[in-house]
Amino acid sequence: MMEDKFNAVSNTAKLKKRVFSGVQPSGDVQLGNYLGAFKQWVQGQQEKENFFCIVDMHALTVYQEPAKLLEQTKMLAALLFASGIDPNRSTLFVQSQVTAHAEACWILNCMTPIGWLERMTQYKDKSLNQERVSVGLLDYPVLMAGDILLYDTNEVPVGEDQKQHVELSRDIAQRFNRIYGDTFVIPEPVIPEVGARIMGLDNPLIKMSKSHAHIKGHAIRLLDDDKEIERTIKRAVTDSDNVIQFSREPEKAGVNNLLGIYKVITGRTINQVESDFQDARGYGDLKARVSEVVIEELQPIKKKYSEIMDDSSELDRLLIRGAERARSYADPKLMDIKERVGLVLPGNLVK
Ligand code: AMP
Ligand code: TRP
Repeated sequence: MMEDKFNAVSNTAKLKKRVFSGVQPSGDVQLGNYLGAFKQWVQGQQEKENFFCIVDMHALTVYQEPAKLLEQTKMLAALLFASGIDPNRSTLFVQSQVTAHAEACWILNCMTPIGWLERMTQYKDKSLNQERVSVGLLDYPVLMAGDILLYDTNEVPVGEDQKQHVELSRDIAQRFNRIYGDTFVIPEPVIPEVGARIMGLDNPLIKMSKSHAHIKGHAIRLLDDDKEIERTIKRAVTDSDNVIQFSREPEKAGVNNLLGIYKVITGRTINQVESDFQDARGYGDLKARVSEVVIEELQPIKKKYSEIMDDSSELDRLLIRGAERARSYADPKLMDIKERVGLVLPGNLVK
């Protein structure tokens, strides 16, 4: 039986902790995505079993130009592989290619109180001052819960901003388990200590984000050329007291952010970073050194990216393979969910 074969696959693999994370193919991928998410995903690949999902259906919660969405989906896949996601160790796939996600979302919708969703801060932010808000935008975290729960996920590595959504996935899983019996693993959010919140270079009080990445001076985009990177960092907002130290003071947020970027890239401790800058002559030096490490970090990624894009048929093959692998986990899980809630399964109807 198909179901047994798939269960056998997922049971043997379950010896390792399972990791699931996602990223939207909307806007330009920026340094915060890379330092807060991709870099952590790449580093965790060895010892864990990983699923990384390009969540194109989440992107649809706000209008996307169709041709652009498709193009950005492929570019993002190429960038993830270029950043070091290894298709032999991790399953990288596009969400809409695995229909179980949409189906799971529907079933979970039916047991999620609307109040839980209206309380989500991302929803409140994104719907603020909008004339019309789609049902999809409100439902976004339930689709995300479906993503996570279909894979019996133990860990969800995300930036700070997504913690509330992962916590909601836990609540939904617990509620389902209570009503229908033990079905879902309860996932844990894993937030990196540094890099969880890279701030805008034009305004260090707001998070660097894909949706603002087109605004001049806000973000380093992963595909920016070296000169652009240097220029953006040179223009970064700082303060006037010329003290190069980590600090939680809002007026030091700019310097703190630059030091944070340097710290995640170099892997040095807080003390080491501060001593690296002891001899610096002002913020000009700080910015030059930060530019240097950012440029050095992104150069090989850009090179690999253009190699991948030169032969995109290989990229397509990898995405097809990724979706097949993902389905071999998600489809039997969905069967289990459907059976528990009393939906008709193929075996229930005799020809
Ligand atoms: P998004 O750009 O919202 O699709 O986010 C994709 C991933 O990158 C998520 O894990 C986010 O938490 C992470 N992320 C996005 N922006 C930042 C940022 N400025 N700092 C750290 N992590 C971020
Ligand atoms: N909402 C996440 C973000 O914007 C992306 C995402 C969708 C995700 N599904 C997920 C992250 C499942 C982790 C796990 O960053």
